[in-house]
Amino acid sequence: MKLHIKLISFISLFFLYTALNVNAQIYTTTKVDAKVKELVSKMTLEEKVGQMTQVTIQAVSKVQGTKNQQHRLDDAKLEEAIKKYHVGSIINVYDVANSLEYWNEIITKIQNLAVKETRSGIPVLYGIDAIHGTTYTKGSTLFPQAISMAATWNTALAEQCGEITSVETKASGISWNFYPLMDIGRQPLWSRLWETFGEDVYLASQMGSSYIKGAQGNDIGATNKLGTCLKHYVGYSYPINGLDRTPAWISERMMREYFLPTFEAGILAGSPSVMVNSAEVDGIPGHANYHLLTEILRDELNFKGVVVSDWEDIVRLHTRDRVASTPKEAVRIAVMAGIDMSMVPYDFSFYNYLLELATEGTVPMWRIDEAVSRIIALKMQLGLFDNPYPNKELLNDFAKDDFTNANLNSARESIILTKNSNNILPLSKTSKVLVTGPTANLLSVLNGGWTITWQGNEESLYPQEKNTVLEAIQNKIGTGNVNYVEGCTFDKDININKAVSEAKNSDVIVLCLGEPAYCETPGSIFDLTLYKAQLELAEKIAATGKPVILIMLEGRPRVITEIADKVEAVLLGFLPGMEGGSAIADVLFGDVNPSGKLPITYPRSPNGITLYDYKPIEKFDTNNYDPLWPFGFGLSYTTFEYSNLKLSSNVINENDELKVTVDVKNTGSIAGKEVVQLYVTDLYGSVTRPNKQLKGFEKVLLNPGEVKTIEFKLNKEHLSFIGQDNKRIVEPGDFVVSIGNNTLNFSLK
Ligand code: BGC
Repeated sequence: MKLHIKLISFISLFFLYTALNVNAQIYTTTKVDAKVKELVSKMTLEEKVGQMTQVTIQAVSKVQGTKNQQHRLDDAKLEEAIKKYHVGSIINVYDVANSLEYWNEIITKIQNLAVKETRSGIPVLYGIDAIHGTTYTKGSTLFPQAISMAATWNTALAEQCGEITSVETKASGISWNFYPLMDIGRQPLWSRLWETFGEDVYLASQMGSSYIKGAQGNDIGATNKLGTCLKHYVGYSYPINGLDRTPAWISERMMREYFLPTFEAGILAGSPSVMVNSAEVDGIPGHANYHLLTEILRDELNFKGVVVSDWEDIVRLHTRDRVASTPKEAVRIAVMAGIDMSMVPYDFSFYNYLLELATEGTVPMWRIDEAVSRIIALKMQLGLFDNPYPNKELLNDFAKDDFTNANLNSARESIILTKNSNNILPLSKTSKVLVTGPTANLLSVLNGGWTITWQGNEESLYPQEKNTVLEAIQNKIGTGNVNYVEGCTFDKDININKAVSEAKNSDVIVLCLGEPAYCETPGSIFDLTLYKAQLELAEKIAATGKPVILIMLEGRPRVITEIADKVEAVLLGFLPGMEGGSAIADVLFGDVNPSGKLPITYPRSPNGITLYDYKPIEKFDTNNYDPLWPFGFGLSYTTFEYSNLKLSSNVINENDELKVTVDVKNTGSIAGKEVVQLYVTDLYGSVTRPNKQLKGFEKVLLNPGEVKTIEFKLNKEHLSFIGQDNKRIVEPGDFVVSIGNNTLNFSLK
């Protein structure tokens, strides 16, 4: 017998356990509704279509910003955009981060034009990708990227990152952030894996919701808060060939099981906007998908906010995807599928076509009014009608020391120790260390894309006062104890032989490998295997017989199996952000006890990409889940022991709550943080059930000898899944709860 849970009530129930204290529908108060209605009723068709148009700042600029050149707006073009085309939104930078003061200047100029020199006086909604901090304002606090944030398994840190990013972005005069990325990271080859919170639905939902809570608080219009944007709805992250913006094949059931829940969590956390999947799912481009954009997003998930297209993706329905035979048809399809605002972004073609379509009646007025009302409501909720200008008070709150400390804490908790033979780590501060490898002395490799520039790879623009791994090690143990030989670039030998000969004069080698910074499609690769030159450096260094500590700085898990067993220790840094170098040195020399855990499965081979919640058939016959390191794994300099796993009952009814408790003890000699992870296995089901699924976690600090009892609560939503008819159901049967190496069974009647 199947127990069907009514879909709508399920949606609100399923994420009740995220228990975030925010008002989920912050953007639809009756007061705002009435004001929106009144304003929209007075707008001309041109003004409405303009509000739905978004352009990049490049389209209204005279001079591009570079390292040595100050960006300049083109006043005539800006006037044309705002006064002639009534554009509702401007985004981005052209092309490098601006100073805080310059942001204040240009936002003021834009708003002056919109508010004082147009008939409607509607302020412009400026949007930006403030991805791991305020990407495009010089000197901002740049946190670990999402994959590293997820590696902390610490929701309080994600919340703090949201808070600080909002303050610094608002100080720049910008109230709309195209973040967080709620795509789930289940395709390790994908060049945007590092922008995700990893492979697990529950972990990503928790981290993303916590970020939103910090970013928005209870009022996106508050001085230090802003509006977030959930992206990229939905299924973008699962390209079958691993290349960015290529097709995903995701069945309705899989979509509902794995890809929609993180977005549901973001909507329940109160995010007022959603950005659309740039690619396609099951042959339907994201921007043409009425079923996902309207039937599911609006009718099922009850999303009330703004849906914005991704970059140039509406015209691509014609030029690339060929589901529209003309660019005008592309606009009709996208708007009727449910897109409210077009990130055009270089011209006014969308405006012109939509105006024609609306005048002809091919796009009905109700649809235009619906989209415009959502945009105006968002602007009102953001407080732009009260004050569209940057708030000068926030200028003093930019890049405060407290923010740097918060960033350093996040970076420290994000570092994952996956190997530590004979407890070689932590190293003694009197060691003679050779540092080598292409990621040892660059800041860009700690940060990745969306750092100062889109690709994040302009090393010369990075703040020189921040520490690379090499500099942080030098600071920690003195330059006299540190020798540095680059060895190789990412993919070419420079002086590998020199590194090898210098190794002989050192006690230990810190070998820093990984990837250069990249973002989106330019980061696509065809093979997860680490570059040959780096593998060669590692092989030769390991062959010296000196102990090697491998540090990986990378946006996705490059395959390192052949060298991992030749080194003594491995620290996975992924992209730990601007304080990442310091954090790594802290861990290397024992000033910080590592507590990061893998938010993804680390594959053993390029195609060994079975994930932790694999299906029974994936571990059958010759199939196996045999990663280099599993999801949830990470060592510490101390040890933890789990005992006393208890359930409040071993039989529950459908509406019962099951209490799960476990004792965790620090059995080592130093304090450490442990991530207590609760997994549930559903033993039999009408749809194949995963090996196990994460359904709870808590990060706890334990002093030596200290024991803490951790409590979790499970209810029917944790036991539910998407059934054969694509509806969420719960089936009676037997389940296993596991925490650490403790397991207990219970039955659902
Ligand atoms: C990316 C989005 C981003 C947008 C605006 C697109 O290329 O896919 O994630 O928000 O550009 O910069």
